Amino acid sequence: MAVFAVFQTTFLLALLSLRTYESEVLSEPLPLTPESLKVSVNSTCQCLHLQWTVHSLAYHQELKMVFQIQISRFKTSNVIWVENYSTTVKRNQVLHWSWESELPLECAAHFIRMRSMVDDARIPKPGFWSNWSSWEEADAQNMLGHDPLFVFPKDKLVEEGSNVTICYVSRIHQDNISCYLEGVQIYGEQLDRSVSAFELKNVSFIREKGTNVFCKVDQGGVLGGIVLFVSKVLEEPKDFSCETQDLKTLTCTWDPGSDTGLTKQPSQSYTLFESFSGKKTLCKHRNWCDWQVAQDSQETYNFTLLAENYLRKRSVSILFNLTQRVHPMTPYNLLPKNVGATEATMTWKVHSIGNNSTLLCQLELLAEGKVIQQSNVSIKVNGEYLLSELEPDTEYVARVRCAYTNHFWKWSELISQKFNTAEAAPSEAPDVWRNLKMVSGHPTVSLFWKPLSKVHANGKILFYNVIVENLDKPSRFEVLSIPAPASSTELTLDQCSYQIHVTAHNSVGPSPASVIVVSGDPENEEVEQGRVNGTEDGFSVSWKPQSGDATGYVVEWCDGPQDLPCVLQWKNLGPNTTSTVISSGDFRPGVRYNFRIYGISTKRMAHLLEKKAGYLEELAPSDNPQVVMSRLTSHSFTLSWKDYPTESQPGFIQGYHVYLKPKAGEQCHPAFEKTVLPEDSVCCKYTIDNPEQKTFVVENLQPESVYEFIVTPYTSVGEGPLDAFTKVTTPDEYSHTLIHIILPMIFCILIVMIICYLKSQWLKEKCYPDSPNPYKSSVLSLIKSKMLLKL
Ligand SMILES: *[C@@H]1O[C@H](CO)[C@@H](O)[C@H](O)[C@H]1NC(C)=O
Ligand SMILES: *[C@@H]1O[C@H](CO)[C@@H](O)[C@H](O)[C@H]1NC(C)=O
Ligand SMILES: *[C@@H]1O[C@H](CO)[C@@H](O)[C@H](O)[C@H]1NC(C)=O
Ligand SMILES: *[C@@H]1O[C@H](CO)[C@@H](O)[C@H](O)[C@H]1NC(C)=O
Ligand SMILES: *[C@@H]1O[C@H](CO)[C@@H](O)[C@H](O)[C@H]1NC(C)=O
Ligand SMILES: *[C@@H]1O[C@H](CO)[C@@H](O)[C@H](O)[C@H]1NC(C)=O
Ligand SMILES: *[C@@H]1O[C@H](CO)[C@@H](O)[C@H](O)[C@H]1NC(C)=O
Ligand SMILES: *[C@@H]1O[C@H](CO)[C@@H](O)[C@H](O)[C@H]1NC(C)=O
Ligand SMILES: *[C@@H]1O[C@H](CO)[C@@H](O)[C@H](O)[C@H]1NC(C)=O
Ligand SMILES: *[C@@H]1O[C@H](CO)[C@@H](O)[C@H](O)[C@H]1NC(C)=O
Ligand SMILES: *[C@@H]1O[C@H](CO)[C@@H](O)[C@H](O)[C@H]1NC(C)=O
Ligand SMILES: *[C@@H]1O[C@H](CO)[C@@H](O)[C@H](O)[C@H]1NC(C)=O
Repeated sequence: MAVFAVFQTTFLLALLSLRTYESEVLSEPLPLTPESLKVSVNSTCQCLHLQWTVHSLAYHQELKMVFQIQISRFKTSNVIWVENYSTTVKRNQVLHWSWESELPLECAAHFIRMRSMVDDARIPKPGFWSNWSSWEEADAQNMLGHDPLFVFPKDKLVEEGSNVTICYVSRIHQDNISCYLEGVQIYGEQLDRSVSAFELKNVSFIREKGTNVFCKVDQGGVLGGIVLFVSKVLEEPKDFSCETQDLKTLTCTWDPGSDTGLTKQPSQSYTLFESFSGKKTLCKHRNWCDWQVAQDSQETYNFTLLAENYLRKRSVSILFNLTQRVHPMTPYNLLPKNVGATEATMTWKVHSIGNNSTLLCQLELLAEGKVIQQSNVSIKVNGEYLLSELEPDTEYVARVRCAYTNHFWKWSELISQKFNTAEAAPSEAPDVWRNLKMVSGHPTVSLFWKPLSKVHANGKILFYNVIVENLDKPSRFEVLSIPAPASSTELTLDQCSYQIHVTAHNSVGPSPASVIVVSGDPENEEVEQGRVNGTEDGFSVSWKPQSGDATGYVVEWCDGPQDLPCVLQWKNLGPNTTSTVISSGDFRPGVRYNFRIYGISTKRMAHLLEKKAGYLEELAPSDNPQVVMSRLTSHSFTLSWKDYPTESQPGFIQGYHVYLKPKAGEQCHPAFEKTVLPEDSVCCKYTIDNPEQKTFVVENLQPESVYEFIVTPYTSVGEGPLDAFTKVTTPDEYSHTLIHIILPMIFCILIVMIICYLKSQWLKEKCYPDSPNPYKSSVLSLIKSKMLLKL
């Protein structure tokens, strides 16, 4: 009963007041002046906080109203902010409004007032503003102490790129104050006698400990400063994704972007939230987070990653099914088993995923870094695969990666394993060639062979077996074992024919044999000789096909110049070939190379067919022959250079030029050709076009004249150097008469004189000896003897 009475009373009162209000509103709008306006200052956010009420409202009524708020700085007339704040108001409700000041509030007194207006659709007439409330002052300066200089805002935290206003309040008015940002002076605006403001635009991050700003009084050393904390802007996490290796733990990763940590603000934190289960976890790491998968089979996940710091929050979401994000662990224990020469079995293991699931593994075989085989194998735990068609004695790399079969998401990491296949017997006979010569009367065979290529050796060649079989006395064998890597041997034979087998051996066995037949007879060197032309690719050697039964041809040459020991080279060619290109990196221009072409008979005997010589590129001779001059007369002389070796020149010698410098004014003899030498002297030139003609008679000369000559060989490219001419002087015409007549005459006279002299000596001795004793005279003795004879 009592309850009913109370209810009834309340209801009647409400009804009454509504009536009263309606009649009032409709007749004359109420002046609903804001009342009890209070203003407070929050230095942390540099905010002015306003609160007020509107008392005159009917107590149960909700009304939409606009409050016009005015803010003045320093003095009430200096209005710096006007804002219309619309809200719904109830009777006695405390209303709140905040305003953030750009200028730190400590630097200036602020004055606030407001008025209101009803702005409700239920009231048709246009409203009118109430009277202004009285000005309220918000003065944070009162809170300051007695220091001479203050700088604000203190310890403000802002994001990079913001605009910040800094101000100082000085109590020493007459002084000149300058302010510095990180040591660099900044210039601002004086707002008041004691207050200046500096606007810093687009502030940048400098260091975690903050940016320093200080102001100082130029005279007096009074100092004030602040630290401004500029944080990097929190970025939205990038590349957010989650995956599982075992369906038990999900690992989510992301790129966090730059760290926003400062001494004033810790680095941003990351929280992982899952919307279906409603669970969340605070991540311990900046860029990854583990999430335990619940036992109940939740299939779909909606993860939100929230990054936050004091200034900002950012989030990204992903939605996925667990089984579609399986990234299996790297397989392990990849090992070769039963490795043969051409086959090997690879085995490996995988970590199982969940219960009884299958993995698809990809096995790749690599040789020299290239994938040569690829196969897919479905396995549960143990993998095994037989690799075939391998090369013997070869290093391979096998590698495996696996993926979840139910839903392919990603391959696991690769695991690799190196292995070598076993050796096999060499698959080809070595390429063998021989050279025959006589050494102190015995036919001697030098055998040469080329090492087998890796493809054919099938392992490490350990030695070569050479079996020498005497064909004329069957069943006579000689076996030589030559350790690798030797590639030649020498055999001394007699006049018989021999068949020689050469095999290469590795640890498994021998190669097929190379067979050649040699006989002790000297080689027939009387064969066609020719020339070959060198090209960029080498020498293009061709020959006449051998009539009959050649089973192949061999071209043989030496790689080095003729004067160096020959490194014998050869090339085997098929029976239908009649030309080939011989190339070698060792060929040099200006060196004569000699090629010998052999035909191989069905009996495996080689016969010399042709010889060829050629130059890769012919050059001009570098030296002139040593010329001997003889038979000099007043009209001619003879030149000869018999010793000149045409073989060892840097090109084929085609002939010689004889240059003769005539006496001044003398014409060239008709057989000579007039030519101008490089140093502009005129010269007569005679061309000998036979390289074997190595003498020349220079005729039709003038007696008693000086001539100069030179002989230069020439090739297709040019001639030898025209440098050192030799001088010769022809004798005078009579000198030779003199020599031929007068000299013998003088000689005769001399002889006669000598004879006469001798004769006179004799006479004297015989007739008039020196001794005065006449009896001793031989004439007397003669007379005496004659007289005796007469008697
Ligand atoms: C508004 O102010 C004026 C003068 O200051 C005063 O006469 C008037 O009564 C005020 N109005 C209200 C509704 O208070
Ligand atoms: C000042 O503002 C900061 C940031 O907006 C707020 O956390 C703090 O509670 C406020 N202080 C007061 C006294 O209202
Ligand atoms: C506030 O509202 C009044 C009246 O509607 C209008 O004249 C004035 O321009 C508005 N002021 C601002 C700052 O919006
Ligand atoms: C900073 O000031 C510049 C120029 O006055 C203005 O363009 C920019 O928008 C301001 N930046 C912020 C974050 O208010
Ligand atoms: C303040 O100092 C600057 C240079 O130091 C000078 O140019 C300026 O005149 C000074 N101002 C006053 C008011 O002393
Ligand atoms: C702010 O500064 C950064 C570098 O410090 C510059 O790249 C950017 O363009 C600036 N922004 C504005 C609005 O000036
Ligand atoms: C995933 O979660 C976010 C955050 O809770 C939510 O906004 C979004 O709608 C959800 N997406 C789906 C598909 O449920
Ligand atoms: C997850 O799986 C369910 C049923 O297996 C399917 O309907 C749904 O489309 C899948 N969601 C995604 C994101 O793949
Ligand atoms: C996996 O399957 C076996 C046999 O079906 C069962 O005994 C075992 O509990 C299962 N394990 C899990 C983790 O589901
Ligand atoms: C595992 O799965 C295979 C087919 O994927 C099925 O045949 C076999 O019975 C399953 N084993 C267990 C223990 O669940
Ligand atoms: C070599 O070249 C010359 C000139 O080009 C040519 O006349 C000659 O026939 C060639 N000899 C051979 C064997 O090709
Ligand atoms: C050589 O030519 C003959 C006839 O043209 C042919 O039968 C033979 O197979 C050829 N030999 C080779 C090795 O090419």
